[in-house]
Amino acid sequence: MAELAINGATPIRTNPYPRWPVWDDTERNGLLAVLDSGDWWATEGTKVGEFEAAWGRFHHTGPAAAVTNGTHAIELAFTALGVGEGDEVIVPAWSFLATASAALMVNAIPVFVDVDPRNGCIDVTAAEAAITDRTRAVAVVHVAGSVADMDALTDLCTRRGLAIVEDCAHAHGSTWNDQAVATLGDAGTFSFQHSKLMTAGEGGAVVSRRPDVIDEVTSLANCGRRPGQWFYSHYSLGGNYRLTEWQAAVLLAQLDRFPEQQARRSSNADYLNKALAEIPGVEPQWRDPRCTSQGNYCYVVRIRPDEFGAGREQVRLALEAEGIPLTMAYPPLHHLETFLDPDGFVPRFRSRAGMQDFGSLDLPVVRTLADETLWFKTAVLMGDRSDCDDVVAALARIQRNADELADLSVTEPGTGGRR
Ligand SMILES: Cc1ncc(COP(=O)(O)O)c(C=O)c1O
Repeated sequence: MAELAINGATPIRTNPYPRWPVWDDTERNGLLAVLDSGDWWATEGTKVGEFEAAWGRFHHTGPAAAVTNGTHAIELAFTALGVGEGDEVIVPAWSFLATASAALMVNAIPVFVDVDPRNGCIDVTAAEAAITDRTRAVAVVHVAGSVADMDALTDLCTRRGLAIVEDCAHAHGSTWNDQAVATLGDAGTFSFQHSKLMTAGEGGAVVSRRPDVIDEVTSLANCGRRPGQWFYSHYSLGGNYRLTEWQAAVLLAQLDRFPEQQARRSSNADYLNKALAEIPGVEPQWRDPRCTSQGNYCYVVRIRPDEFGAGREQVRLALEAEGIPLTMAYPPLHHLETFLDPDGFVPRFRSRAGMQDFGSLDLPVVRTLADETLWFKTAVLMGDRSDCDDVVAALARIQRNADELADLSVTEPGTGGRR
């Protein structure tokens, strides 16, 4: 008789995990206040300014610069730091498209490097090996909130005169040696897109301990205007990347709730780290001891197929059948369609001279992590211990009965067999 839900057994979990995102009357009242004020854009309203001040205080910096989304936040951070035409930006190849596309959108060239197998964050030795005389900046991604080795990266970038942009889209609330991410390099960027740990559906921000960077991002995001100057003076080639008052009202409410949620996620992640490590072939994402707080966007574990008895994709499908919510692991960034198609950057770039040959570039750690990691949705960390116990029970059940998955054929969407 089948022991696994994917083969007809009763699922471990039939009731849903806590719903994401979380909201209540705080968001509702904030939105109504904006509506009734009639000031729906930041130029006249107060909420965006309040949120910028609050998000800055959260990071022990001056005000943040609120922008349209996390993608634009990275682009604006690059531009504010002087990254532009012909410059190279070193990018870890395990991230969302935006970390690399932001470089291309400012006419710079992303140079992909491999990542640390323990946490999926940039491999600083690989970054050093990729530096040329055209390198201007390094982008770092704190994958699932686990902070990259910022001591080694800061040392490298200080020695070589390179800017650091921290893509903190996964790392709201993460710290390194008790210092907030986004303040460790020259600029840090956040996304407030729907799945993120604070959300207004869409939205983004740049945080920096450098007021010059924030001033420049603020101006670029507001069509190149400068504070106190005439409305139709545009001093630089900016655009309209402004957050709305609606979004800021929601984000202020989300920020109020954040510390309690963060404590819950963190305690549940610690619990899962211990419990899941007992299952053969399951390796929870490593957290460097200097990562003093991890803002768990998703919860990541690696499946070692030989020890576990089944491959990640089979396990993922079996877990979903057991009622456990998962999202997809990132495919290697440099193997996305836009990078493989020779015309994939047209019309922005008509030639790829000086760029890596993305198709033949093999970054083995990224390839392995893309194939072997499971990404649990934030929702699994938002409940209580029994919600975590269901994750453990489901994975343990699948491992014990891995032979039931032997004939399960898997075709992973989107990869086109090109890993
Ligand atoms: C690592 C990473 N960087 C950047 C982004 C881009 O953020 P947004 O979707 O707000 O543009 C995302 C998320 O979507 C992300 O996960």
